[in-house]
Amino acid sequence: MRLNRGVVQPWWRDAVVYEIYVRSFADSDGDGVGDLEGVRSHLDHLVDLGVDALWLTPFYPSPMHDHGYDVADYVDIEPVFGDLAAFDRLLSDAHERDLRVIVDLVPNHTSNEHPWFQAALAGGPERQQYVFRPGRDGGPPNNWTSVFGGPAWTLDKDSGEYYLHLFDATQPDLEWRSPAVHEKFRTILRTWLDRGVDGFRIDVAHALYKHPDLADEPAAPVGSMMAADRPAVWDQPEVVGVYEDWRRITDSYTGDRMMVGEVFLLDARKAARYVGPSRLQQAFNFSVAKADWGAQALREVVDRGLALFDPPTWVLSNHDLPRHTTRFGGGETGRRRAVAATALLLALPGSTYLYQGEELGLEDGDVPAEARQDPIALRSGLPGRDGCRTPMPWVAQDVGHGFTTGRPWLPFGADASERAVDVQRRDETAMLATYRQLLVARRTLRPHLGNAVTWLDPAPDVLALRREGGLVCVLNTSERPVEVPCSGDVLVATQAGACVGDGSLTVPPVSTVWLREDPTHA
Ligand code: GLC
Repeated sequence: MRLNRGVVQPWWRDAVVYEIYVRSFADSDGDGVGDLEGVRSHLDHLVDLGVDALWLTPFYPSPMHDHGYDVADYVDIEPVFGDLAAFDRLLSDAHERDLRVIVDLVPNHTSNEHPWFQAALAGGPERQQYVFRPGRDGGPPNNWTSVFGGPAWTLDKDSGEYYLHLFDATQPDLEWRSPAVHEKFRTILRTWLDRGVDGFRIDVAHALYKHPDLADEPAAPVGSMMAADRPAVWDQPEVVGVYEDWRRITDSYTGDRMMVGEVFLLDARKAARYVGPSRLQQAFNFSVAKADWGAQALREVVDRGLALFDPPTWVLSNHDLPRHTTRFGGGETGRRRAVAATALLLALPGSTYLYQGEELGLEDGDVPAEARQDPIALRSGLPGRDGCRTPMPWVAQDVGHGFTTGRPWLPFGADASERAVDVQRRDETAMLATYRQLLVARRTLRPHLGNAVTWLDPAPDVLALRREGGLVCVLNTSERPVEVPCSGDVLVATQAGACVGDGSLTVPPVSTVWLREDPTHA
């Protein structure tokens, strides 16, 4: 619990959460793959940065066809990542530093190597816990496609039936109409809550149930979950019932345990329905991650996020999306825009999710076709998501960039040396320093800030808002400096050259300034 303007509220309502893609964060044993001990040894990076929590992508035993999102045992640790003792050490060291830990839960599908699926193939009662159907006209039961490309059904040769997999063929979908599946996940949830985790990120939270008719659908494009509404596939009416059930479980523990749903739906109103006092505590609001650069576009998504989500959540990058530096044009322009947009979101009420490496201004790596590992690339021939998953560069002058002493599982991005952590730590003007300043200022102001946001509309191409409690945030999206009427002290500026004088604030091109308003004007 935490006090905001005299009101006690759970930590997650305004937390800044840092996503760790475990494979690519830090490798402690030289096998080229990041691991839990690597995360533990870099916790001070997160403390220095000033985040409140970290989200770990799946670390469970897995054949790694989807890099851990194909889980073969929900309550143990993949040896490549460590073991349960390593997890406990990480959790306890994080807690000692006042960092909360969110783990990834993957309830839509298991790995085909999970003992449940193996038993299902062998014809045991577990078969009811997956979606097996007879074929149609010598082919799959319907025309559904996998998000990763190709059909969503694979033939089980022994039985002559097909099983459903909305992702890779190695990720069979669970049948959530089976009560046994519910019971199993309740136990999994309790296992991790008992171990002390602070929350869960729920993978493809809008999936789980499929329409019982399994009727044909209009063809869906591959490679993006948000590319199409799939009314028979996503967002069935029954699914929120699962989260109502899980909410009773998280609420039965002390310490404000939470869940955040990856609800990848085109319509943000539908995603917002997953959140509430008896449902998920949060759902990712992906509309910002899809917004174009520009004052109008950003204002629209901010308004929508504020109006629809309680609490609002803000996401610009993650392990499935192009990094926002790249999406906003790459190079110096992309970086200026990226940190300016991040600064806008960090000024808002709600919870912001950062993705590892964005504090360095990393761009997507250019992973050559022969080095690609993402099942999207392998199944569909599209470039896939490897570009945003290239390893963290900790040290500039080192072949393994302090990430590994071995051969990294994916090549580093071209900007690894230039943007490495050790270089930026020595540079007060680096992106890393700006992120730190933003997070320190946010933490300092937090007890004084309310949730009301007022737009100030000072000039075209400029977004300016006043947050209740005296924070003014001005984003200049244009290529020229602008002057806006304001008074107070500059707290953080994402580019050099911001200054206040004579009741006006100068905001450098493509930058954001945070100002602590003069209390007499607040
Ligand atoms: C989620 C994960 C993604 C994974 C997919 C299937 O979208 O973020 O990385 O491939 O689910 O589990």
